[in-house]
Amino acid sequence: MAEFLTGLKRSHYCGHISEKDVGNEVTLMGWVQSRRDHGGVIFIDLRDYTGIVQVVFNPDVSAQSHQTAHSLKDEYVIAVMGKVRNRPEDSINEKIPTGYFEVMVESVKILNESDPLPFPIEDDIDAGEPIRLKYRYLDLRRRPMHNQLAMRHKLMHTTRSYLTEKNFFEIETPFLTRSTPEGARDYLVPSRVNPGKFYALPQSPQLFKQLLMIAGFDRYFQVVKCFRDEDLRADRQPEFTQIDIELSFVEAEEVREVTEGLLVEIFEKVRGTSLPRPFPVLTYEESMRRFGTDKPDLRIPWELADFTDLAKDVDFKVFKGAAESGGLVKCLNAKLCGSLSRKEIDDLLPEIQPYGAKGLAWIKITDNGLQSPITKFLNEGFIEEIFKRTGASKGDLLLFQADSPEIVNAALNHLRNHLGKRMFPLSKDDFRPLWVVNFPLVEYNADEKRFVAMHHPFTAPLYEDIPLLDKDPAKARAQSYDIVLNGYEIGGGSIRNHSREIQSRMFSLLNISEEEAKQKFGFLLEALNYGAPPHGGIALGLDRIAMLLSGGESIRDVIAFPKTQRAVCLLTEAPSEVSPRQLEELYLKLVPPRK
Ligand code: AMO
Ligand code: AMP
Repeated sequence: MAEFLTGLKRSHYCGHISEKDVGNEVTLMGWVQSRRDHGGVIFIDLRDYTGIVQVVFNPDVSAQSHQTAHSLKDEYVIAVMGKVRNRPEDSINEKIPTGYFEVMVESVKILNESDPLPFPIEDDIDAGEPIRLKYRYLDLRRRPMHNQLAMRHKLMHTTRSYLTEKNFFEIETPFLTRSTPEGARDYLVPSRVNPGKFYALPQSPQLFKQLLMIAGFDRYFQVVKCFRDEDLRADRQPEFTQIDIELSFVEAEEVREVTEGLLVEIFEKVRGTSLPRPFPVLTYEESMRRFGTDKPDLRIPWELADFTDLAKDVDFKVFKGAAESGGLVKCLNAKLCGSLSRKEIDDLLPEIQPYGAKGLAWIKITDNGLQSPITKFLNEGFIEEIFKRTGASKGDLLLFQADSPEIVNAALNHLRNHLGKRMFPLSKDDFRPLWVVNFPLVEYNADEKRFVAMHHPFTAPLYEDIPLLDKDPAKARAQSYDIVLNGYEIGGGSIRNHSREIQSRMFSLLNISEEEAKQKFGFLLEALNYGAPPHGGIALGLDRIAMLLSGGESIRDVIAFPKTQRAVCLLTEAPSEVSPRQLEELYLKLVPPRK
């Protein structure tokens, strides 16, 4: 039967028992990790969040406790009172910090019982993720999961102290609000007192933090939940946490400086890792050209080379065709991958077909010269340039893509990551941050037949590109920046339009009518009329940073109660149906989904 504490008070934590406690009476409380009967004496590993200590039930010390110990099962919650002593020489366990000591139990109280568990509370278990998520409170009892959340706490604490030290105010912004345009779908909340109207959960506090700058707060931050109804992946959750930051009277460089300082502090304090400063800064254009992506993993030392200019003059339809129709011909030098067999090379094509790749041309640099199905189509000048532009040498494998820029870059980026992972021991202790800056301001969306903002519509163009807003908007660059770490986008931000005039031009470029803009963001546009200071900011993905700090590959592992890829919480079974009465109160009627 479960018992109350009735005055019983814990004196020590299990994992803290040490030399100085030897000879002293202690009261410990925790869970039964395991029980071993050794001919009359019973040993229990008692666990709390600090660790494990061995407690010993010897009938010669307390017959009654020994009797009770027989009934203890895994995960029973108990309190034990007894004396700490040094373990006998032959039972010392050097693997745990308390392994030199044990507690000789004088009395024990069962505080609660436990049913048999769906999986053991051990560091390594082979339970699948669904069962771990259903019994998340048990999963979180396991030490590695505990450590992740403790680390996450430290990450949040470090963030708050650092930014407070730098004169930032943490200010909360509403969750029940209007739609914020970050490009995903909104989660809507119906209003009971305003029939037919809905709040949107914020995709980010973007508009409010800008209003706080207009309110004169100068430096704002918030560790804040954001909500986005989008397709989920290992690094995406429908609700996730941002370290949201905004500053007044700054240019992009100063926002980057503050962010770098914060990240350096976080990695130092949370993990003891020093990130090398300053972080490299690449323009978007350069990043795409050299790596085929705006989030290169710099742990892989390979780059792409461009051959589009030469491809027009070769007798190879695939290359020539791409070059003449506005496409690209690019090459990845997969250094020392020349040892790949024909089959291994053939197996690379299915890897990149999902990106639209139609083929994969390759050249091996062997002892006996070039080996390739395509060299016969290439002239000597081209081949000479290959060596110059890719730095190819014996043992290398050159992989070519010829297609639209999107397909070429996506396919070669994938191959760079795919083969890079194979060739290099990509250490989870090696952190290679970089900034990617000056993204295009807008990109054309063929489905919607209009330009859409690449970051969000409040992002300012580069000063010198303002004339392009009318002339050639696709060429205009933004005062925007992403922070990238080991292939992950861990944050992004921009300098905003503090000028009402530029903001209006941006809306018309995005084909958002004056009326629509007024209806959606009228409050911001109006605020811009009342002395808005130049301002800008950034938001860091806290979950992704926590994941990288922990060396994991899924943000679910650093979130206490995450959702599945289908946006379901297996523990609470949210989302769930609601009663007809609740729907009625909200003036809602359900339409069955179309088959
Ligand atoms: P952005 O949309 O780039 O910018 O988001 C900032 C960072 O948040 C993280 N992130 C996510 N993490 C987990 N799950 C998700 N679904 C998810 N979506 C985004 C990423 C990303 O880099 N208001 C702007 C910031 C600004 O301009 O200041 C914004 O939200 O790490
Ligand atoms: P084909 O002329 O289609 O037989 O292609 C000749 C070689 O070029 C083969 O090795 C193909 O895999 C390769 N190839 C085909 N299409 C492309 C492409 N878009 N980019 C790069 N290589 C390609």
